[in-house]
Order: sequence, then C-alpha cells, then structure tokens
Amino acid sequence: MGVRIGILTGGGDCPGLNAVIRAVGKSATKRGWETLGFLGGFEGLLDLQYRLLDYKAMDGLLFKGGTILGTSNQGRFAAKTGHGEVRGIPKEILDASRANFEKLDLRALIVVGGDGTLSIAQQLFEHGIPIVGVPKTIDNDLEATVMTFGFDSAVACATDALDRLHTTAESHNRIFVLEVMGRYAGWIATHSGIAGGGDVILIPEIPFNYESICAKITEREAQGKYFTLIVAAEGAREKDGNFVTSGPQESNREARLGGIGAVVAAEVQKRTGKETRVCVLGHLQRGGGPTTFDRLLCTRFGARAVELIAENQYGYMVALQPPDTVAVKITEAIGRLRTVPPNGDLVQTGRALGISFGD
Ligand code: F6P
Repeated sequence: MGVRIGILTGGGDCPGLNAVIRAVGKSATKRGWETLGFLGGFEGLLDLQYRLLDYKAMDGLLFKGGTILGTSNQGRFAAKTGHGEVRGIPKEILDASRANFEKLDLRALIVVGGDGTLSIAQQLFEHGIPIVGVPKTIDNDLEATVMTFGFDSAVACATDALDRLHTTAESHNRIFVLEVMGRYAGWIATHSGIAGGGDVILIPEIPFNYESICAKITEREAQGKYFTLIVAAEGAREKDGNFVTSGPQESNREARLGGIGAVVAAEVQKRTGKETRVCVLGHLQRGGGPTTFDRLLCTRFGARAVELIAENQYGYMVALQPPDTVAVKITEAIGRLRTVPPNGDLVQTGRALGISFGD
C-alpha cells in the first residue's frame, strides 16, 4: 500500500479549517498519498471514526466555514482545564490512539488546533505518533507564529460590527460596548478596535478603571462627540478584579469567559447617566468563511504540513514568520500564551490616536 496520512481538527472551530483540510488533501493527492480525516477531533482516532479525503471531497472547501470533520474541546482528550493548566492524557487513551494509528498504517497525523489541541498532540508525539501541527485560533495567542489562521476572519467580523455600531451609536448619541472573544489575550479587541475606530479598548493585558473610561467619554463630549464606542475583550478585567465568566467551571474544560461587556455597560451608564448598550459578538466571530488573507494562510499552512511529512519532520508545527512559512517545535508554541505587549507598537498606535485603554 502507498503512503497514507491522517488529519484532524480540534478545539473551537474557526474560519479556515476546511481550507487547511483542502490544502492537505490536495497536496497529499498530488504526491499519490491517501488522506484520512478523523471525525470529532481526537475522539475519531480513538473510536476509529474517519472518512477518506479524496480529490473529489475537496470541492468547495476553500470558502466553507466550520470543519467538515467536526471538532471538540471537551471529552476524553481535554488537555486544558483552566488558565494555563494542562492535564496529562491518561496512558490507556494514548496507548489506544497509537494502536489505532498503527492499525490504519498511517505515516503521520496532522493536527490542526490551538494551544489545548497542540498540547494533546505533543503528548501523542511523545507517545510515539509522528505528528505535524497547524496553528489555529481566532484568539491569535499561540507562541512561535506571527499569526494563527482564523484570527484575520474574526477581526474582520468585529471590525464590521464596529462599523455598524458606529452609525447607530452616532444617530442616538449612545455609548456602545462591543464584547469580543479572545480568551486571555486582547488581540481581536485591539486589532478591531483600532481598525473599527473604537474610542476605548479594554484588554486583559491592561487592567482598566472606570474613572479612565468615563474621562474619555467626557473628553469626547467636550469635543462635541456625544457617542462612544468601547471594545471589551471577554478577558478584560478591572484593576484588582477577576475575569467575568458565564456558566459554571467544568472539570474537563476551560472556564467560559463572557459577560464583561454587560458589566462595563451597566457601570458606565450608572456613572455617566448616558444610555449605554451592549452588543456581544460571540460565535459570529467563529462562523462563516475565511477572509482572503486566511484562505491564503490556510493553504500555505496545509501545503507546508504535507511537505514536513515528506521530510519526516515530526513534533513540529508550521508557523508564519513573514515572508515565509517555517517549521517550529510544537513545544515552542504551547504552554505560554502570546499576549498583546502593553507597551508594544500596536497599543502605542492606538494611544497616538487618542484611544483610551482604560488605564
Ligand atoms: O478559543 C477560541 C474561543 O472562541 C475563545 O475566544 C472563546 O473564549 C472560546 O473559544 C469559546 O469557546 P466555546 O465555544 O466552547 O464556548
């Protein structure tokens, strides 16, 4: 039998997963290899649930949202259980995964995911499965790559939301708080906040206080601007305050952040007496097709991942280090989040324009 490889998508979905699957399937087919796609993330490997990804199956995948393979960020393979906490996958599960990998006579497994998924992939690699990683997450919080795919699409969604809120906020002289995703990193909030003309950007990396936020609103009013756009990352928190979570903490998955937008809106309205509304963008940021930038990035990542297998380079993840895609050790990417530098170029750009970061 010829070469056969596997691929799976893990963690939260995001635009571009199918574009990676397509690039992998097409490049593998071109080499005469066969590709199996495991269903439902690592669970598919454990339960031997998979489908053949032949050339025909690649049709229409470039712009299709979600993942045709399905995904999971909980269950038997949950590796991340809290802020920075990684759980070891039980040995019997690692053993069974490896046995299935060998039974299918696979040469390697491509794992598409973020920090949690790649932490599992690394454990499988250390357990003897040849792994190649592809960095995915709208949060853009993975180390060792300048960008993860999905991020640009999420930012485009949040920027579009700000454009829309801008016109209605201005018409009604209202304050709007747009809550965006990003978990413990403020990349989506900062990029969309600057690109979408936000007036206040609240991110986890810069704890805020209400005096600063209200001072910005007052300053704008003095300039004859009676509306204000506040972008709040879901992980933003008040100085000396806690993360705002929605739903109870579950033992086998990360805490679900959410609700900071409503908290900020209520307090700002109380302090300013101005009508303050909240819009939670939620999973709109994860749904739908990828932007042009992400389509290209996914295609480059997918093709490069297949190349790494051809070179027998395992335990590596493809990464963007402009102008090239390169291979970095998975261990260089996981276990520490890449967050927005509070004094970096991005924040300085915002401050130069008069944007308040609430500090
Ligand atoms: O990691 C991607 C992400 O969308 C985060 O921004 C968000 O906190 C989380 O996933 C939401 O996950 P779920 O859809 O499981 O609630």
